[in-house]
Amino acid sequence: MGEFLPRKDQYNIAVVGATGTVGQTMLEILAERDFPVGELVPLASSRSAGSRIEFRGKGYVVRDLANFDPAGLPGGLDIALFSAGSGTSEEYAPRFAGAGCYVIDNSSAWRMHDDVCLVVPEVNPHALEMAKKNHIIANPNCSTIQMVVALKPLHDAVPIKRVVVSTYQAVSGAGGRAIKELATQTRNLLSGNEAEADVLPARIAFNVIPHIDVFLDDGYTREERKMMDETRKIMGADIAVTATTVRVPVFYSHSEAVNLTFEGFMTAERARNILAQADGICVVDDPASEDYPLPSDAAGTDPVWVGRIRDDDSCPDSLHLWIVADNVRKGAALNTIQIAEILVRQSDE
Ligand SMILES: NC(=O)c1ccc[n+]([C@@H]2O[C@H](COP(=O)([O-])OP(=O)(O)OC[C@H]3O[C@@H](n4cnc5c(N)ncnc54)[C@H](OP(=O)(O)O)[C@@H]3O)[C@@H](O)[C@H]2O)c1
Repeated sequence: MGEFLPRKDQYNIAVVGATGTVGQTMLEILAERDFPVGELVPLASSRSAGSRIEFRGKGYVVRDLANFDPAGLPGGLDIALFSAGSGTSEEYAPRFAGAGCYVIDNSSAWRMHDDVCLVVPEVNPHALEMAKKNHIIANPNCSTIQMVVALKPLHDAVPIKRVVVSTYQAVSGAGGRAIKELATQTRNLLSGNEAEADVLPARIAFNVIPHIDVFLDDGYTREERKMMDETRKIMGADIAVTATTVRVPVFYSHSEAVNLTFEGFMTAERARNILAQADGICVVDDPASEDYPLPSDAAGTDPVWVGRIRDDDSCPDSLHLWIVADNVRKGAALNTIQIAEILVRQSDE
């Protein structure tokens, strides 16, 4: 693939949205994986500019993105990790890319642009080549990432014809305020008080909401449309994909019930063997001992967990999978850092 950045001992990194759920997890993962960070520049809005964040035991003052000049840092910026919403990315990612650094963006702003790559390192790392031109790389939607990690090794064995997915998505997917909303509503209802919905479109405590992001004219939600379009772009294949995305009262980790139909011979046993050897996947699938992936077990972990692998008796060459992953880690921050690791990798390593 060739090199993206020159060889250096350390790289200067900006984290845009450093005070948020994803931004904080990015900082944790940069430290955990011993990423060669030189200068760290934490950025957020004027609301939290001046506050302090911690990285590797050292305090840093959060700076206001609106007043930061990406071309003005001594030594230059190498990589900017964006997780501050689509509007912020639309406005600021081109400025950072124009200053010469690579932007890895967690929002949906750039994902479906023809000249921007949409990357999951286990699935389509070669797509990163495109970023050498415009320096913007899109990180897919959290629900899409965990699903394509499981689809890819199966699709390589026998092409997938159709995917039907229903999601069970944690509130952390909607940011820090939604996490607080579930906690507050649960406490209020258990104390006999009213529970007000503010961030999410309806009460989430003791409920499920079949509505994530806005409704489109065709009756799908934008979250559903993202899963359908992004899956085809990342897989580079014209797979039929249909999705129903649902918010559930879980704090961390999205779960997905996925039904797959293949172009040719595929069985649950064959799929289990393929998935057991695939990068980034842990198979937990033992009905005899009632063992299957749970969001509570996946929270705080890196792999995509797959279980309940079984033949779909209603249709030949079809299977069911249950896919669970930490949406803030593999669904966002970890995937971003894995991309950054490719950008700093040297060809002789
Ligand atoms: N949570 C997930 O599982 C997940 C998964 C994939 C992608 N994403 C995407 O990642 C992004 C952040 O999500 P999150 O869950 O971390 O949200 P969050 O907890 O609400 O945090 C939002 C962050 O963005 C910053 N921000 C907001 N507006 C800004 C502006 N105008 N200028 C600069 N900074 C601004 C906030 O700074 P202040 O402290 O100043 O408000 C905060 O640091 C979103 O685009 C989201 O769609 C999230």
